[in-house]
Amino acid sequence: MSFAVAIDGPAAAGKGTVSRAVAAHFGFAHLDTGLLYRAVGFAVLQGTNAVEAAQNLTAEVLENPDLRTPHVADAASKVALIPEVRAALVDFQRAFARRAGGAVLDGRDIGTVICPDAEAKLFVTASAEVRAERRFRELQERGIETSLDEVLADVRARDARDMERAEAPLRPADDAVQIDTSDMTIEQAVATAIAAIEARRGG
Ligand code: CDP
Repeated sequence: MSFAVAIDGPAAAGKGTVSRAVAAHFGFAHLDTGLLYRAVGFAVLQGTNAVEAAQNLTAEVLENPDLRTPHVADAASKVALIPEVRAALVDFQRAFARRAGGAVLDGRDIGTVICPDAEAKLFVTASAEVRAERRFRELQERGIETSLDEVLADVRARDARDMERAEAPLRPADDAVQIDTSDMTIEQAVATAIAAIEARRGG
């Protein structure tokens, strides 16, 4: 039996943390769809054609820790504008969503485009300042040199690109439960998400 959980939201809103915790709680598989776009952005930075990269992604590539840098995030949000890139990634994501045993997918267009029939949809947000601060701390812990101002500018630029694009723009699905994590701890955000999903499971 399949059960798809779609978790969308802007950059660094805490989708990854919430998604991993939700997947562990319910015993569902988890796909961070941002990694697919990051892998394509990374390939483009290495000189590969974006559409070709999207058509030839391998699971191995997604393990590369270099995908998690701000530079690659910026490249990802640029290749994410290309309709052929998005199209090349659709089947994989839809098959993942419908795998037996349940799946959590986090991204920008999961509840609206990839899986409009998802059993549960969440839209996780926080103010741009809070998101930039969280991402800044995360990058610092990983030893990546940057400043809070730089991270805030990056978050704002990506949000604008993601929301204003013609193809699959970032927006909450009409039936998504919105969770603003600005004033929540991780534990509170996770508990809120689990409760929303439980409600959709009918128990
Ligand atoms: O972790 P963070 O929220 O910073 O970014 P991400 O989820 O890894 O996504 C990187 C970029 O990929 C986003 O800024 C989007 O432009 C793009 N993306 C997308 O267009 N659609 C998705 N389903 C996931 C990511």
